[in-house]
Amino acid sequence: MPNQPCCLLAAILRTLKQLWSRPAPLIPQAKPFLSCGDLPGKPRKKMPATTKRPLKERCSVQWMVITVLIVLTLLGLLITGAYFLKILIDTNFFFCKTSFKFIPRSKVCDGKADCANREDELMCVTNLTINSSFPVRLVTNSSVLQVYTRSGSWRLVCGEGWQIQHTQQVCQQLGFSSNPSSSTVAVNLLPSSIKTGFSAVAPKNGTASGISDLLTDKPSCTSGSVIALSCSECGLTLGLEDRIVGGTDTTVEHWPWQVSLKINGQHTCGGSLVTPRWLVTAAHCVASTGNEVDQWTVQTAQTSLSSSGEPVDKVIINGQYSSENNDYDIAMMRLVTPIKLQGTSYPVCLPPYGQQLKANQSLWVTGWGYTQERGKVSTILQQANIPLIDRATCLQLYGSIITPRMLCAGFVQGKVDACQGDSGGPLVLMDDRWQLAGIVSWGVGCARANWPGVYSNVDELLDWIYTVMQKNP
Ligand code: ARG
Repeated sequence: MPNQPCCLLAAILRTLKQLWSRPAPLIPQAKPFLSCGDLPGKPRKKMPATTKRPLKERCSVQWMVITVLIVLTLLGLLITGAYFLKILIDTNFFFCKTSFKFIPRSKVCDGKADCANREDELMCVTNLTINSSFPVRLVTNSSVLQVYTRSGSWRLVCGEGWQIQHTQQVCQQLGFSSNPSSSTVAVNLLPSSIKTGFSAVAPKNGTASGISDLLTDKPSCTSGSVIALSCSECGLTLGLEDRIVGGTDTTVEHWPWQVSLKINGQHTCGGSLVTPRWLVTAAHCVASTGNEVDQWTVQTAQTSLSSSGEPVDKVIINGQYSSENNDYDIAMMRLVTPIKLQGTSYPVCLPPYGQQLKANQSLWVTGWGYTQERGKVSTILQQANIPLIDRATCLQLYGSIITPRMLCAGFVQGKVDACQGDSGGPLVLMDDRWQLAGIVSWGVGCARANWPGVYSNVDELLDWIYTVMQKNP
């Protein structure tokens, strides 16, 4: 309907005009507006017989309409004003609830307490640096358990004496809490590279802080088998078949760990759920923006980008991240409410330690990033199938800027690649279940020949991931 607001305005004006002008034929000499409420006792002219409404009633209707209009207009102005004022205050100031005062935003998360109770320094993005490897790890595709025991070596754990509470303890130590289970694997089926020693649970007095306190080294396993663990529900999809530049539309059911990270409702980066509460993303997504945790929200379980999102209560950046060469480009966020495991939201598995990816291994990258080098984000989730580029070729193309924490994937001839806005998102592979092999990190332009995408190498960052989850249960 064209000019609708105009018509409405015209109609209101017309009604007002009618109310105004109707008395004219009834009153021989129309009184001025202000004389509407005649003083009591003042003699009135006699009404003609045809008059339906008394003068007093007509006047009060006029007044009522005008008053209502004025009140509505004032109210509207007041609400709009208050709204903009709130936005202005919120963007420039932080309110200290305990000391009941406003401080400038720049003083929030600056390392100095400006509110009572350090309220302005409590919900900040933090850094975590680790200087030793995590003492428990799962190796090979069957997730065989290796523990760094007090004798200072990595040891497999024999099946004898192992109980459900040991499984729970180790999985908890690794940061997982849901439905853990264990199985046994025959020692003679394992590659010799992981047979660096054996151990078994032995009854102990006193308190054990980690599983290693319960283990004693052994020359071999009497049962002939060792423990393998399944600590998390991960890596399964309901996607039936099996932007990214050069990708295709997809749905979140195919990649249910894919999330969108937002600042003030705006998509900024991708991320991957690795547990119902924790997601992995790139450090550069977080380091360059939003120092305050509550600026961030996470959109889960959705194929199309929207402004909706879930709150987070922890944002942790790898302390060794370098903005100069993007080394250690990894960060993690924790959702306030764990996701419900379902077809549209489900964590991806972390890879086993020391997994050797094969050159040309088929990988998938997903995200809502630019569909062209100088393009726009895509509203529909995109996927692209790209091969792993072996380390030698990666080093040849990019030179020594490539560190062990990086890997290259894509095509040397270009055309298909991740791009701006895909950062932090998953690079996954299918091996029994979907595993996270990489995190979209950087590149030279997008999809250019000889400049494939560079990803954070998750295998080299597992110690950091497990430490973050263990320290923040
Ligand atoms: N750094 C980019 C981002 O923040 C991602 C770059 C990935 N580039 C590439 N050519 N693969 O979204």
